[in-house]
Amino acid sequence: MDLKTFEAAAWTALEEAATDPQSDLRYLALCTVDGAQRPQARTVVLRRCEDAGRMLTFHTDVRSPKWQEMAVNPQVTVLGYDPQRRLQLRLAGRVKCYAAGSDIAWAAWRELPQHTRQTYVGGPPGEARATANETAGAASAEAGESRFGVVILQVTVLDAYQLQRGENERALFRYSVNGGLQGSEWLNP
Ligand SMILES: Cc1cc2nc3c(=O)[nH]c(=O)nc-3n(C[C@H](O)[C@H](O)[C@H](O)COP(=O)(O)O)c2cc1C
Repeated sequence: MDLKTFEAAAWTALEEAATDPQSDLRYLALCTVDGAQRPQARTVVLRRCEDAGRMLTFHTDVRSPKWQEMAVNPQVTVLGYDPQRRLQLRLAGRVKCYAAGSDIAWAAWRELPQHTRQTYVGGPPGEARATANETAGAASAEAGESRFGVVILQVTVLDAYQLQRGENERALFRYSVNGGLQGSEWLNP
């Protein structure tokens, strides 16, 4: 395999994952650094992959700790592993966060199905509650809009690792903030 083919395969896998709920790469670990300089990680759904611009889109609740963490430090790492392809992708870069009132958040909110909108109606993520299942009561799903945020990661480094018995392959790809490829190289796995 050459570097170009390896890179294309990685981005194709992400593009597919953004539209296929069955894809393992649809569920990525988003890693941030918190206010005490400790690493934090959580699963998020890959909502969109803009292959050409090297951008990944996620949705979240603006009341969640991760939103605050990214406001202070927009440098994040995203990690995924696709067992079918035996491919690990580690993507790093800077996020931009779009809250209610922005065109980007409004456009994404409009596309959300009702049941997804409902997930933004409850109490602030991470706060204690009395029982495992608290119903949101009569609150309308529309109430969630003010809590809905879009996170767009501009990937500047992709570390791709292909597991292959006896001949694992690993390569690093660097991108400019416009998504242009700046450099690539093979690494020892
Ligand atoms: C399969 C799965 C998918 C998830 N997708 C999202 C998501 O797209 N956005 C999100 O904010 N949280 C998502 N979560 C919940 C987060 O993993 C996390 O628990 C929550 O957002 C609170 O994170 P924080 O306290 O680090 O801010 C998902 C959880 C699971 C198990």
